[in-house]
Amino acid sequence: MAEAKSRVFSGVQPTGNLHLGNYLGAITRFVELQDTHDCLYCVVDLHAVTVWQDPDELTRNTREVTAAFLASGIDAETHIVFNQSQVPAHAELAWLLNCVARIGWLNRMTQFKEKAGKNRENASVGLFAYPVLMAADILAYRSTHVPVGEDQKQHLELSRDIAQKFNTDFARAIARAGHEAEFFPPPEPLIMGPATRVMSLRDGTRKMSKSDPSDLSRINLSDDADTIAKKIRRAKTDPNALPSEVEGLAARPEASNLVGIFAALSGRSAGDILKQFGGGPFSRLKDALADVAVDVLTPIGAETARLMDDPDHIDRILSRGAARASAIATPILEATRDVMGFVRAPHRR
Ligand code: AMP
Ligand code: TRP
Repeated sequence: MAEAKSRVFSGVQPTGNLHLGNYLGAITRFVELQDTHDCLYCVVDLHAVTVWQDPDELTRNTREVTAAFLASGIDAETHIVFNQSQVPAHAELAWLLNCVARIGWLNRMTQFKEKAGKNRENASVGLFAYPVLMAADILAYRSTHVPVGEDQKQHLELSRDIAQKFNTDFARAIARAGHEAEFFPPPEPLIMGPATRVMSLRDGTRKMSKSDPSDLSRINLSDDADTIAKKIRRAKTDPNALPSEVEGLAARPEASNLVGIFAALSGRSAGDILKQFGGGPFSRLKDALADVAVDVLTPIGAETARLMDDPDHIDRILSRGAARASAIATPILEATRDVMGFVRAPHRR
């Protein structure tokens, strides 16, 4: 079934409600890739704690992201679903890669600048090193493909740089041990689909985000039908009629966002949607979009809630996934330690 040597890895942080951006930008891609690749889908709890998390909330959110994965169609039998903190290889490899990555590279990360804000001195060291842990997540499995939303592109490029620097820094030891020169294959980002950047419903120039203070800006996977419909009806628009052609969406961020969301949720093209709604008022598009959104999202919300009633079941899935993930990562981590020259007991070499 899977292509030789191709492995998909991606992660989602358990830091609050999953929203339509996560669903369209990431989770639907995760589901599609299951048909063609061996996949690991990780709830990245170690990333979450780069900003303070209430412990009870972290536990709940970790289970909830897992439940949403399963409810969306991720198959934890054929593929691997786990939480990051249960596989120590992530944290250990992150340390090794912290010593490969350069401060100058991390200083360029725009997400750190956004998240740290003005008070940079007070951000956690973990928040700064966040992208190195992400590289470790990916490289611990020698993953080849990483589906993410547009906002993670820069982090993926950094992961590639770290992989390449490791491969050159340790080229001699890698060759001596008989490994391929690409000890860590530079991972390919998969930023694809019609909605790699879903925008806020209140401001078409800002991305939909769980940190937006206005709940009206996003559709949460846990929202009920009335809430979804209400948020779409209240979504910001511009005063003009909808265009009949895709070209007419240029410089109209709110219109493009609503049409893009409609296209992604319905599997129709933007052109087809505009053929139907072009020339008319936003309200007609919004009514139809609300119906599609309710049809697609409410069953996922309901199934997530049902799974959340049995936390032990979720925890068993996660720990079984972690054991399977460890079985892949441990030999790669051991080979990494050997290449770097760390001493260990002779019988294990
Ligand atoms: P996070 O919740 O930050 O861990 O993000 C999980 C995944 O959702 C990542 O692949 C993000 O790139 C993706 N994502 C987050 N927000 C959006 C958005 N507004 N549009 C598209 N993808 C997004
Ligand atoms: N940083 C990603 C986000 O916020 C989550 C993430 C952590 C991730 N590790 C990863 C994504 C590895 C892809 C691969 O969206």
